[in-house]
Amino acid sequence: MLYDNHGRIINYLRLAVTDRCNLRCQYCMPEEGIDYVPRSDLLTYEEIERVITLFAQMGIHKIRITGGEPFLRKGLVDCIRRINEIKGVQSIHLTTNGTLIRDIIPSFHSMGVRSVNLSLDSQDPERFKKITRRDDHEKVMESLTLLIEHDIPTKINMVVMNDQNVEDIFPMLELTKHLPVSVRFLEEMPFNGIGKHSEMTLWNHLKILETIREKHPALYPIDNAPNSTSVNYKIPGYEGSFGIIASYSRLFCGTCNRIRLTPTGVLKTCLYDGGVFNIKDLIRNGASNDDLATALLSALGSRAKDGKEAELLRASQFINESMATIGG
Ligand code: GTP
Ligand code: 5AD
Ligand code: SF4
Repeated sequence: MLYDNHGRIINYLRLAVTDRCNLRCQYCMPEEGIDYVPRSDLLTYEEIERVITLFAQMGIHKIRITGGEPFLRKGLVDCIRRINEIKGVQSIHLTTNGTLIRDIIPSFHSMGVRSVNLSLDSQDPERFKKITRRDDHEKVMESLTLLIEHDIPTKINMVVMNDQNVEDIFPMLELTKHLPVSVRFLEEMPFNGIGKHSEMTLWNHLKILETIREKHPALYPIDNAPNSTSVNYKIPGYEGSFGIIASYSRLFCGTCNRIRLTPTGVLKTCLYDGGVFNIKDLIRNGASNDDLATALLSALGSRAKDGKEAELLRASQFINESMATIGG
């Protein structure tokens, strides 16, 4: 098993396969997009599979594929199938905007995809368009329906933003009345390609919960999966559940079991750190698996205790990367 210097087990890799996206969510990218990295700077599938094979031997058992929008990368379906064959990989999960997956959903079970987290910030097509700057609400709703029809465990991520989608909190909760989904309300973080803005911290986890509790005083907490980012609740009589993710307040760092690889191969031991080393550069300079393992162990041996410390230790104190370049 892999441990960090604070005694936390590390068994979860979040792998961003591309920084490209077909949406322009306001909390993630500016309207004009970001400077996408050239394809030659991406980890190749071969490199990805080599790294996962090694990491799985060392104790990484859960893989989440993210982006950007992961399905913009050609060949991903086959790559996921190969990852599913790697010894030690116990489960594969996806975080996607849901616009490109309609025809692939029926294959998810055979690909080894165990669950999908879908970004959906509004149930209103106009507000969806304003937030994502694209007119794709219908496609995402269609994907949601198909995911449920195909029995794929699904969570919906809604970033709560002042003056943007607060009125969507209750319609989104109502989705859980008859659908077996978990809707998660996320605090907005400054990973938007621009930086922090004054409205950002208004809707923190406490305000979100109190707003929901005013209308649903009988809501009750349910068990949280180990290492869960969300604190989860149910409304009596509702089929699904809801959760709140204190991503900016960073309340779940104490049980953080995850590392990240960005599309270009930067290994991050925290979402808020500036990156520890670049595994692609090591590989392309001829590193052996032992060298790669040593680099990972060394990174985990000096991991920040939480996201606040990781932020303080960053070379640049100004956080303005797009979430798409980090990988969710
Ligand atoms: P599961 O627990 O496997 O369902 O994954 P998840 O909820 O971590 O995955 P998802 O990709 O859906 O991420 C949802 C949100 O959780 C992200 O947008 C962030 O807001 C938050 N999040 C995920 N990982 C981290 C992390 O390491 N640190 C912080 N601060 N927030 C995170
Ligand atoms: N703040 C909070 N969540 C964000 N996401 C992307 N950018 C941000 C941000 N700035 C969310 C997306 C996706 C998840 C992986 O990250 O909604 O569901
Ligand atoms: Fe694309 Fe996801 Fe970023 Fe939205 S949050 S622009 S869907 S990568």
